[in-house]
Amino acid sequence: MAGLIPRTFIDDILARTDIVDVINKRVKLKKAGRDYQACCPFHSEKTPSFTVSPKKQFYYCFGCHAKGNAISFLMDYEKLEFVEAVEELANTLGLEVPYEKSFNSNENNHSTSFKTKRDFYTLLQNIAKFYQEQLALFPLAQDYLKQRGLSKSVIERFQIGYVPNQFSTVLNKFAINSEEHKKLFDVGMLSRNDRGDVYDRFRHRIMFPIRDRRGRTIAFGGRATNNDDKPKYLNSPESVTYHKGNELYGLFEALEINANPEKLLIVEGYMDVVALAQFDINYAVASLGTATTVEQLQLAFRATEQIICCYDGDRAGREAAWRALENALPALEDGRQLKFIFLPDGEDPDSFVRKYGKDKFESYIANAQSLSEFLFSYLSKQVDFSSSEGKAKLVALSAPLIKQIPGEMLKVTLRDILAQKVGIFDQSKLEKLLPINKKDSVIIAKPTLKRTPMRLLIALLLQNSQLVSFVPNLDAIKVLNEPGFDIFEELVKLCQSRPGLSTGQILEHWRKSDKIKTLEILAVWDHLIEDDKIETIFCDTLKYFYRRTVDKRIEVLIGKQRMGGLDLIERQELAQLLMKK
Ligand code: UTP
Ligand code: MN
Repeated sequence: MAGLIPRTFIDDILARTDIVDVINKRVKLKKAGRDYQACCPFHSEKTPSFTVSPKKQFYYCFGCHAKGNAISFLMDYEKLEFVEAVEELANTLGLEVPYEKSFNSNENNHSTSFKTKRDFYTLLQNIAKFYQEQLALFPLAQDYLKQRGLSKSVIERFQIGYVPNQFSTVLNKFAINSEEHKKLFDVGMLSRNDRGDVYDRFRHRIMFPIRDRRGRTIAFGGRATNNDDKPKYLNSPESVTYHKGNELYGLFEALEINANPEKLLIVEGYMDVVALAQFDINYAVASLGTATTVEQLQLAFRATEQIICCYDGDRAGREAAWRALENALPALEDGRQLKFIFLPDGEDPDSFVRKYGKDKFESYIANAQSLSEFLFSYLSKQVDFSSSEGKAKLVALSAPLIKQIPGEMLKVTLRDILAQKVGIFDQSKLEKLLPINKKDSVIIAKPTLKRTPMRLLIALLLQNSQLVSFVPNLDAIKVLNEPGFDIFEELVKLCQSRPGLSTGQILEHWRKSDKIKTLEILAVWDHLIEDDKIETIFCDTLKYFYRRTVDKRIEVLIGKQRMGGLDLIERQELAQLLMKK
């Protein structure tokens, strides 16, 4: 059951969507025979084991066994909830998701929460647009942006706007009824003081819309245009649409310019991102005042393999970099690079690029420190290298950090550097200190199922739904009580009711069922039967079951004969059955 989106709509969406397009937009696919391939986005690998089958409308990774249809892909890759994934697919097709009314109040709440979320995005986008219109009306705000060196095109690309020095700009324009009023509150656009007065949270500020990876406006940051106004930057609070530790300001805009950037630069502030963009450096994103979180790093690593974290050269900058390093360790799969750059005293990326220009900035960041350089230089400041206690302390401090890295190659590299620094050359000692999993860590035991005739029937039908036309009435087989028969029967009914279903569509019907695991394995089961034999083998397997029903009937009749004898009709039946055999 898919909650409150009608089943037929989900069927329809999957029928109209091509999984190859959905995935290819996010992970570049290469044609390989009838299927498509790529390096798996769900685990780190060098040779592609991720395959997408257009026929089955299903993907499968031979390395980590990730699998599913287009909806599952969006849920796993974009970290969407089921309903969001359906919405995303519907959106691409230009369809509106219909929500069924439910009398169950719980479910109702559930459905409105998704609908409202969609309304929130629309509302925030409308506000962003309104702020942009306001900017056009206030020359002083335009002057501020001009003085900060921003051109019209960058202002437009980042949809930068302005909110005048009034208490109810947004309130007057958008709180048209109590429902809308509540929405404005829920997304953090309004504040209430002790006396209960309600007014705009953002006033007299340059407004930066914060967009998620998919370009939806989810929050705002506002910079005071008057340097005496405090705080200098005011941000939307956490809300249904905005979790600041999960977002990177400017990522959507960066990927709009280049969907596969060679590197991303993580800076601190809004102005840094837009100033760099002004100098045609379009790969900067901002972590928005927080220590860069592991979620933010994961988000960035989805778009690129190299991240450079940029900090002030002062002590606070080094501490912030260290916190980012600690957070990043669990995200460091092999092939990913994390680097650190510290700017000269008193400079931020904005001031640096204005002073020295694009080329100097880029050659400066080309000298970023590698993870190991920064790690050991930071720790070395805390220990005295010449003493053996100091060396032991370096090991004690770095080993637990290095252990957290999932990339085995990177782990070995760091272990070797550590060994050199402290002078451990005994491999077994090293191994004890920091065990490295030598075997290819990505090969996860493949979930297997024993080959039985029933599983073969299910797998063949699941992978080739047109075979349903060969299935006769199943009542006779039912009496065999064969394990798995109930699944097969359900599958047959589904395939009969909707001809032409793909594997991906069929599996959607079992998403919430405890049978899904088995069915998914059967969906990618390599049955080793050549294409032109599939039909024959499917029919032969069905016949096998019908023969077994005959055997079973014979058994019953013979048993009865022994016990008390058969009547005339039964005797005739038995004779006939034995002849048939
Ligand atoms: P900075 O104080 O370094 O500002 O804060 P900045 O980016 O150089 O801004 P300009 O150049 O003065 O305009 C860096 C980031 O820290 C957060 C913001 O995200 C800001 O971009 N911050 C700063 C706040 O959230 N609130 C503040 O009051 C100050
Ligand atoms: Mn600045």
